[in-house]
Amino acid sequence: MEQANLILDKDYVIARVDERLFGSFIEHLGRAIYGGIYDPDSPKSDANGNRQDVLELVKKLNLSVVRYPGGNFVSGFNWEDSIGPSELRPTRLDLAWSTTEPNTFGLHEFCEWARQAGSQVMYAVNLGTRGADAARNIVEYANHPGGSAWSDLRRKNGAERPLGIKLWCLGNEMDGPWQIGQKTAYEYGRLANETAKAMKSVDPSIELVACGSSAYDMPTFGAWELEVLEQCYENVDYLSLHSYYANRDDDLPNFLAKNLDMEAFIETVSSLCDAVGGKKHSKKKLNLSFDEWNVWYHSNEQDQQVIAQSRWGQALPLLEDVYNFGDALLVGGLLITLLRNSDRVKIACLAQLVNVIAPIMTSKRGCWAQTIYWPFLHASQYGRGTALRPMIRAPRYSSKDFDDVPAIDAAAVEGEDGTLNIFVLNRSIDDDIKLTCDLRAFGKLDFTGHILLHHDNIKAINSEQQPEQVIPVVRHGFDADNAEYSFVLPALSWNVLKFTKK
Ligand code: AHR
Repeated sequence: MEQANLILDKDYVIARVDERLFGSFIEHLGRAIYGGIYDPDSPKSDANGNRQDVLELVKKLNLSVVRYPGGNFVSGFNWEDSIGPSELRPTRLDLAWSTTEPNTFGLHEFCEWARQAGSQVMYAVNLGTRGADAARNIVEYANHPGGSAWSDLRRKNGAERPLGIKLWCLGNEMDGPWQIGQKTAYEYGRLANETAKAMKSVDPSIELVACGSSAYDMPTFGAWELEVLEQCYENVDYLSLHSYYANRDDDLPNFLAKNLDMEAFIETVSSLCDAVGGKKHSKKKLNLSFDEWNVWYHSNEQDQQVIAQSRWGQALPLLEDVYNFGDALLVGGLLITLLRNSDRVKIACLAQLVNVIAPIMTSKRGCWAQTIYWPFLHASQYGRGTALRPMIRAPRYSSKDFDDVPAIDAAAVEGEDGTLNIFVLNRSIDDDIKLTCDLRAFGKLDFTGHILLHHDNIKAINSEQQPEQVIPVVRHGFDADNAEYSFVLPALSWNVLKFTKK
C-alpha cells in the first residue's frame, strides 16, 4: 500500500479561522428562492412562506453568512422594489437571467429567513445601473434607528428595530462583459470609492467588499485589481474573488487538483492587494472575500435550452447542476485550500445554496442533500478554531494542468473546545494510502472517529429517489503507536480524522 505522512504542531499556526469562511449565497435566480427556500403554497412552509424542511437542511450547515440578492441579478435590481406590501411591489424583467421577477420575496423576507437560519446577511448593492445614492439609501433604510425618511419607512414596513446588515458587497463582477453596467477598472474603482464613503457616512460600523476580477482567467485579471484598489483601497475592507471549477473533458486527476488553482489565485490576489498597500504606504492589510466558489458545469447546456424555450418565465429550473461523488471530492479540496489560507480569506460563500448550483435540492414533495453538501457540512462543523499548517509527505502525480500534485491534501483545525480535526483528501485514482499522522506535539489524544465519504462509482449522485447514495460513514479503525496514528484512506476519498485532547 502507498504511504504518506503528516506532521502537525500547535506552533504551525496559520490563523484563527473567521467563522464567515462558512458562508453561502442565494440569488434571485431560477428556483433558489421561489420554489426553493420560499413557497407560500407549500404545506411544508411556515406562515412566512419559508420551507421548513429546506430550512432544517440549511441549519445543519451552520452558515455564518449568506450573500444576497445576487449575483448578476443585482446589477439591474432596484432594492426599493423589494419592500412594502407585497401586492404593491412591481414585477420586473430580470435582464441578467432573462426571467421575470415578481418581488414577492424581498429584503424583509430575506432578513427573517436569515434569522431563522441563524445566519448573518451579506447584502450586495447595485453598482451596475445605480450608484452611491441608492446604496446610501438602503444602508439608511436597513441600519439607521429612525427619524429619517428611509429608516421611518422601514419602521412603517414592520421592522421597528434596524435590520442590522453589517457586511455589504459593492456591486457584483463589474469587470464582466455579461454584467449589466459593466465598467472599466478605473470607472468601477472610482464608483466603489465614492459609494463606500457614502455608505460608511450613514453607518461607520459596516464592512465593505470591493469587486475583484470575476475569474482568475479574465483577460483583465491583475490590472483590474491594481487599478480598482488604486482608487478605493482605504475605503473598503475586502476584495472579492470568484471561481467555478469544471470537469468538461472528464479528466479526473486534473479536476481533483483544481484546488491548487484556487490556491494560486488566492496567493496572487493577496500579492496584488499588498502591492497597492505598499505603494500607498498604507498601514492597512486588505483581506479577501471568496464570495462565490463551487463546481459549475453540468447544467450549462440545459440552461441555454430552458432560456430559449421559456424566456421571461418565472422560477425556471436554471443552473440545476446534479453533483456527483467526484464533485464532492473537489469541494472538499477547495475547503482545504480555504482553511489553509484563512490568514487572508476571511469570508467565503459556497455558491449557491438551494436548487441553483447548490448543495440542497427541492421538489414540491421534499428536499435532499447533494453530494457536495457533506464536505461543506464537515468543514463548517469541525473547521472552527485555529487553522494549523500540516507538513505532508505523499506520493505525487502530474496532470494536464498541474505538475507535482500531492495525492494527499490536508488542512487541520484546533478547536477551542479541545478538539483537533484533520481534513484529508485522497486524490489518488487507484491507491488506498496509509496515512501516518505524527501528533506528538499535542500530548495525549483521544481518537473520536474517522468520517469517510467514499463511493465506488465516481459518478454516483444523490437524487429525490435515492437521496442517500453518497453519504458519509464513521469508521473507528486505526493504528496508534507513540502518538503516531495511522489510517487507511481509500483511493478517492474525503476524510475527517477527529481527536480530542485529554
Ligand atoms: O452564481 C451564478 C452567477 O455566477 C452569479 O450570478 C454571478 O455573480 C456569477 O457569474
